[in-house]
Amino acid sequence: MAGLVEQLAWDSEFFGFPIGRVSLDGATAETLPTIEAEARELGIVCLYGALDPVAVDTAYLVQTFGHRLVEVAVLFGRPDVPYAVRPTASTVRRGTVSDLPGLEDPIATLAPWSRFATDPRFGPDAAQRMFHAWVERAARDGEKYMLLISEDANGVTGLSTHVRAKVPRIDLLGVVAPGSGASQALMAGFVEWAGRGPIEAGPCAARNIAVLRFLEHGGFSIVRTQYLFHRWLDEPTRLLP
Ligand SMILES: CC(C)(COP(=O)(O)OP(=O)(O)OC[C@H]1O[C@@H](n2cnc3c(N)ncnc32)[C@H](O)[C@@H]1OP(=O)(O)O)[C@@H](O)C(=O)NCCC(=O)NCCS
Repeated sequence: MAGLVEQLAWDSEFFGFPIGRVSLDGATAETLPTIEAEARELGIVCLYGALDPVAVDTAYLVQTFGHRLVEVAVLFGRPDVPYAVRPTASTVRRGTVSDLPGLEDPIATLAPWSRFATDPRFGPDAAQRMFHAWVERAARDGEKYMLLISEDANGVTGLSTHVRAKVPRIDLLGVVAPGSGASQALMAGFVEWAGRGPIEAGPCAARNIAVLRFLEHGGFSIVRTQYLFHRWLDEPTRLLP
């Protein structure tokens, strides 16, 4: 039953140690040791796991095998209907690499909501570095990935990054002035870039109430929810008897 664990080249390179990924859907007390053995064989240090939350018993079981829940990730979707913006002093434009030095503050708003920030073995600095990398990718690309910046007379008020996929998706959104309408202006910029058809947002951390409310007010609803786990291979295999 080999081939369950996928090695993640980008993550391994970025964090500096071998990282892999596995689907925990359908995992049992018999398959979990097999997954573990395969990950060890590949030299994996941290194994990401994803599980459909409908499998409540499996969610408990995998934790007894050392897979630590680090995030409940919620993906949102929205049908092709007009997006209402609230009046705001912020205007929105495409961002480029020359904007990167001025984006520290909005990037800092994102870091606490990352699963890497909640896992102390990665930590908030690693989360911040990763968001930098995502924003930079969006600034450099402009086609598949795209960066939007909002600003008012005092400077940058927020940013958002976007992925052009079958269903276009907003993957990061952070504003330094919550409640100012900058977030809605960025979302409107995304809707315009995406063109006709449905859009998606996230995945978002379920503990992030502000973004859940923001998306709910904007006509989004849940498309998919996943439990995300980190299994550190140097931690005990069985945490519970
Ligand atoms: C998420 C975010 C973009 C929303 O933008 P915003 O300008 O705050 O949006 P809104 O003004 O529409 O406020 C959203 C809702 O969250 C509520 N809210 C804000 N902060 C909150 C908090 N800490 N706890 C609970 N609710 C909160 C607001 O009251 C509002 O709800 P309401 O209209 O029912 O009162 C912004 O809060 C933000 O940048 N947060 C930090 C970065 C982040 O979490 N990004 C999302 C993950 S990528």
